[in-house]
Order: sequence, then C-alpha cells, then structure tokens
Amino acid sequence: MKRILKWCFWALLVAVAAIAVVYRAVNRVPSADMPQNERVYAIFEEGGCLSCHSADPQLPFYSKLPLAGKVVIKDVDSGYRAYDMTRFMEDLKAGKQVNAVDLAKVEKVVMDDRMPLPKYYLVHWGSSLTKEKRAVVLDWVRDERMAMYEDGLTGERAAEPVRPIAHSLETDPAKVALGSALFHDPRLSVDNTVSCATCHALETAGVDNHQYSDGVGGQKGGVNAPTVYNAVYNFVQFWDGRAQTLADQAAGPPLNPVEMASPSFDDIIAKLEKDKPFSKAFKEVYPDGLTQANITDAIEEFERTLITPDSRFDKWLRGDDSAITAEELEGYEMFKTYDCATCHVGPNLGGLSYELMGLRRHYFADRGLELTVEDNGRYKETQQERDRHRFKVPGLRNVEHTWPYYHDGTRHTLEEAVRDMGLYQSGVELADAEVAGITSFLRTLTGEYQGQPITNSNPREMIFGHEHDH
Ligand code: HEC
Ligand code: HEC
Ligand code: HEC
Repeated sequence: MKRILKWCFWALLVAVAAIAVVYRAVNRVPSADMPQNERVYAIFEEGGCLSCHSADPQLPFYSKLPLAGKVVIKDVDSGYRAYDMTRFMEDLKAGKQVNAVDLAKVEKVVMDDRMPLPKYYLVHWGSSLTKEKRAVVLDWVRDERMAMYEDGLTGERAAEPVRPIAHSLETDPAKVALGSALFHDPRLSVDNTVSCATCHALETAGVDNHQYSDGVGGQKGGVNAPTVYNAVYNFVQFWDGRAQTLADQAAGPPLNPVEMASPSFDDIIAKLEKDKPFSKAFKEVYPDGLTQANITDAIEEFERTLITPDSRFDKWLRGDDSAITAEELEGYEMFKTYDCATCHVGPNLGGLSYELMGLRRHYFADRGLELTVEDNGRYKETQQERDRHRFKVPGLRNVEHTWPYYHDGTRHTLEEAVRDMGLYQSGVELADAEVAGITSFLRTLTGEYQGQPITNSNPREMIFGHEHDH
C-alpha cells in the first residue's frame, strides 16, 4: 500500500512538471531580442484578441458546435461591439504610433487582467496573459505614451492617460484677429442676428447652456451645442464627426437652416465686401480676399487660440502636489478605476474616438423618449449598423460650466452625468461618495483663457428650474 502511494506521488509530480513545461513552452514570452512593438504584437496575436475584436473574426472550429458555438458567437459579437482592435493591431505591427484611446483601453484590460476571457484561454493554450507578458505590455504602454506627447511631464505623471493643455499653440496673429472678428460677426447669418458667439459665447464657457440652441428666428436644433474651447484637440468635429477639421466645421453653421440660415457663402461675402475697412484688412492677410476657404481658415486659426491651460489638475500633472486636494486626487483615481479614462483621455479628456452610448446598459431604452435622427450618432454618416448610437466622446475640460450634458442635453447637473456614465458606460452603480469624488476631480479641470479663469454666470435655475439641483 505504502509503495503504491509513493508511486502515485511520483507520477503526480512528473505529470505536474510535464504540464508546467508544456504550459511554459506554449506560454513563453516572445524573445527580448525582438523590437518592442513586435513582441507586444506577438503577445496579442497569441492572446487571440482579434478573434473577438474585429469585423472578420477567425472563428475556431468549435463555433460550429451546437452549444459551445452559441457561447463563442455571443462573445465574439459583444467583444466586437465593445471594441474594434483592427487598426491598433495594424499600427502596432507597422511600428506606427497607436491611437491614445486604444492605448488606454488595452492598458486598462491588461492591468486589470480582464482579457482574454478565461473561456478563451482555457481552450486556447498559450493565449493567457501571464505576469511576464503583462509586464512586457505595460512597459511598452508606458514608453509609447511618453513618445506620444511632448508636454514635458516627468516622473510618474509622464505615464498618465490624462495630459495637460498646452500653454499656447502656434498661430498667425493677423489671421487670429480676423477669425475673432468673424466669430463674433452676425453678418454670417441671413438676418444679421446670430453669430457663432450667440451659441458659443466665450464668457459662458463656449456654450449657451440650453438643451438645444436657438438659431435664426428662434429655431431649435436637435442636438446639444458642445463648447468651442479646446475643440482644436478633437480628432474630428461634431457629435457625429462629419467635419474633419475646424475649417470644415466652420463652413457648416452659416448655411445651416436652423442656425445662421444664410443662403450661400457668396451671399455672406457680398455683405462683408460692402464693409470697406474689413475687406481691406482681410485682403492684407489673404491676398485673394474674401472666399469661403479664407473665411473658414481665419475662424479655424482663431479657434486654435481657444484653449484653456493652467487648470489646477494640469498644475498637479506638471508636478505641483498642492494644486489639488486629497479628495480630488482620490476622485481622479476612481476616474481611472472605473474605466472613465479609457474613453476620456488626452489633453481634452475625450475627442479622440467614437464610442457607443450605452455600452453596458441600454441608454436609449431607459431614456424612454422617442429616438431622434441625432440619436443615431456616427451612423448618420456611415450607415454602418455598428456605428448606431456611437458619438465622438465629448471633452471634459471646464465641464462644470458646460451643462446641460450629453448629445441630447438631458442631464442638467454634473452629478447626474457622472452617475449615469457609471451605469451606462462603465457598468457600475456609483455610490454617492464616489459620484462626489469624481465630480470634485472634474471641477479641477477648469482652466484659464488668456489668463482669466473660465466661469459661467448663466443661471441654471432660470433655464431648468430647481428640480434637479443638488
Ligand atoms: C473570447 C472573446 C475575447 C477575446 C479572445 C478577447 N476579448 Fe476583449 N472583450 C471581449 C468581450 C465579450 C468584451 C466586452 C465585455 C467585457 O468587457 O467583458 C471585451 C472587451 C474588451 C475591451 C474593452 C474594454 C472593456 O472592458 O469593455 C478591450 C480593450 C479588450 N476587450 C481587449 C482585449 C485584448 C487586448 C485581448 C487579447 C489579449 C482580448 N480583448 C481578447 C471578448 C474577448
Ligand atoms: C444656433 C447655434 C449655433 C451657432 C450659430 C453656431 N454653432 Fe457651433 N455648434 C452648435 C451645435 C448645436 C453644435 C453641435 C452640432 C452637431 O454636433 O451636429 C455645434 C458644434 C460646433 C463645433 C464642434 C465642437 C465639437 O466638439 O464637436 C464647433 C467647433 C463649432 N460649433 C463652432 C462654431 C462656429 C465657428 C460657428 C460660426 C461659424 C458656430 N459654431 C455657430 C450650435 C451653433
Ligand atoms: C466607453 C466610453 C466611455 C466611458 C467608459 C465613459 N464615458 Fe463619459 N462619455 C462617453 C460618451 C460617448 C459620451 C457622450 C454621450 C452622449 O452624448 O450621449 C460621454 C459623456 C460624458 C459626460 C458629459 C459631457 C458632456 O459635455 O456632455 C461626462 C461628464 C462623462 N462622460 C464622464 C464620464 C465618467 C465620470 C466616466 C466613468 C464613470 C465616463 N464618462 C466613462 C464615453 C465614455
């Protein structure tokens, strides 16, 4: 009996050792001689990430089986719905800089050890991210992020997903002056009553604080006006991303029938040309004079100056420990813990990707109101089903002053907006103290324009009544 036990013990030991050897062999960390990007690529390739995160998943053989198949297909569908990793993998392979949002998302799931799903690595040996592999990925993330930004952050904070706003961007002051004049000029509208500043007043944080803006003749649009401050940091403009540049964007409102309603740019130009001093000044900077392209170029140049550096949080990022309180810092930590900083990243905490509104819970079903054309988001432009309800992520700079929130302007207070982001985007019910903490962090993002703090004197109660006030 004793002999048999002994024998069993040795057999078990050999089996465990054999499994360990096989496991290590299939799970080896790609060689350190490889370039860093290729190592990380190899890790994700083995991890099978693209099987669940691309339009063209390489379905495994067992996806054809009746029971297991259903589970696989469901994971593949919800994986691709949550995150498309195709471009990230292409850029990584080519050694190109990856998108800041991809970087943050991948960093987060690797840090939390969430991916690949256990169901996957239990079947696909060698795909799990071992501690060693995760260390390789996280080192690369850090290096990649430091190379991505030239904002002078140092030490630990150089690896943060949120970045400071630049103190200034290079601009041509003569064009800026013309752009500023045009931005404030109601002659861009059909009846000379509405300027860009009507809906984007610089004294009220670059917004009008209405759910929907009033255009010419009091007509209402169907989507909330985002701020013009820091819009230069967005990768595209508008909630649906239909303008590639600020100049493209500026060509929209003047002819938009519910905004400025001018019949054509020729019409606007004819009005401006009658203004001799203005058209002379314009010609000195743009020799071919007033054209649509020159007008929108000047407005874009002006908008490049609408940045709000030196918020308390930026001071903290730059190394000033006393710039924010312990509660605010804790709020920032929660902002990262709850995935907020996987969509709200970079200097503007957003504006760098399209994301599904209602990732973790059906926002539009809960909202109950009838769906509008605007609720389609990016889908309006691409007609791709996957883009329905995807929106360009709004930036969060000066967000305490840019109420109401969301594309539909349905959240009147920052607290509500934060609480609901937890539910719909992060899949957590935030406790009151957490909402307060995150909100206190968001208030540290209020910066300065031309040395003056961004404020907003619009009375919230007069617009929405008191029902939602906290
Ligand atoms: C078997 C399918 C599957 C594989 C393989 C897989 N994922 Fe996922 N992934 C999902 C699903 C499902 C979700 C969405 C739900 C969730 O987060 O649990 C998701 C979500 C994500 C997200 C979005 C963040 C989030 O939490 O929603 C990222 C980023 C991600 N995965 C990265 C990866 C990476 C990197 C790999 C490879 C190491 C990988 N995934 C492998 C199925 C998969
Ligand atoms: C009647 C109100 C109104 C006027 C006038 C107006 N806008 Fe807007 N603006 C909006 C609304 C509403 C949106 C969002 C529209 C959308 O996303 O489809 C917007 C979006 C923008 C954006 C995109 C910001 C982002 O984060 O996507 C910029 C930049 C902008 N406007 C600048 C301007 C400029 C420049 C002018 C003058 C040429 C102007 N606006 C005139 C209401 C207005
Ligand atoms: C998956 C991506 C994603 C995640 C995660 C996410 N957000 Fe958002 N956030 C968005 C999108 C998209 C919108 C715009 C939604 C809309 O307009 O319908 C938004 C809007 C907001 C707004 C309103 C801004 C405005 O001007 O309207 C706030 C505030 C905000 N998010 C904070 C947070 C916080 C806090 C968290 C974490 C608890 C978080 N977000 C997590 C994508 C995300």
